[in-house]
Amino acid sequence: MTAPLLTTDGVSATYGDFQALFDITLQVHPGEIVTLIGANGAGKTTTLRVISGLVRPKSGTVCFLGEDISKIPPDEIVERGVSHVPEARQLFPYMSVEENLALGAYIGRARPKLKETMDEQFDFFPRLKERRKQLAGTLSGGEQQMVAIARALMAQPKLLLLDEPSLGLAPKVVEEVFEKIRQVGNSGVTVLLVEQNVVDGLSISDRGYVVENGVITLQGKAKELLANEHVRAAYLGL
Ligand SMILES: Nc1ncnc2c1ncn2[C@@H]1O[C@H](COP(=O)(O)OP(=O)(O)OP(=O)(O)O)[C@@H](O)[C@H]1O
Ligand SMILES: [Mg+2]
Repeated sequence: MTAPLLTTDGVSATYGDFQALFDITLQVHPGEIVTLIGANGAGKTTTLRVISGLVRPKSGTVCFLGEDISKIPPDEIVERGVSHVPEARQLFPYMSVEENLALGAYIGRARPKLKETMDEQFDFFPRLKERRKQLAGTLSGGEQQMVAIARALMAQPKLLLLDEPSLGLAPKVVEEVFEKIRQVGNSGVTVLLVEQNVVDGLSISDRGYVVENGVITLQGKAKELLANEHVRAAYLGL
């Protein structure tokens, strides 16, 4: 098997006295779509924040392309090829679609290719092209999620971290968003997804990890997890 693109090895993380992550060890290989599933407060967002440098691990390491990135600043992590679509999207509501996208290309590597990359994103998300001058805050939830994804892709990442892209969206829109994520994966970008929508998340994934109270309790191929009795009982209500 090829070397992993991303490895977290024995990562623990705390907020003050509270320990949110215990010994998180996971790998994401080039070209994979991997999903982390888990209940509210399990530590999924914290795991993504550790990878993108927004939360420093208390112990353990995060390796990207074979190098330890656990002590380098978040903007440099983006520069190296990790983009993060945060929980709740965090767009700039009073800026246009175009301006939000341009902000995704602020890093040195992406800036010279801004126009070209924006055209690529508008080809990939035609609805955003139609709405390029519209203020992001006036878009529908699904459109805002597309802007958040397009903005992250503007940095031309090798690894895309997605935190609950389906949150608050109607089922039909969720389907569209997951289809786009699948296409992003097919285009060669590796994806680490966090989802409470377990069926849709695992359906587009190669593998998954279950996080419970800050610990990885189960991992495996997406199909195996979907058939797993504990997953079915705890997350699918079956
Ligand atoms: N900034 C913070 N300060 C203190 N505690 C925090 C902070 N952020 C998260 N926590 C706590 O860390 C734990 C893990 O939170 P995290 O946001 O990683 O969970 P999650 O799995 O993403 O949950 P959700 O599905 O609700 O988004 C929770 O108990 C949460 O209350
Ligand atoms: Mg979260």
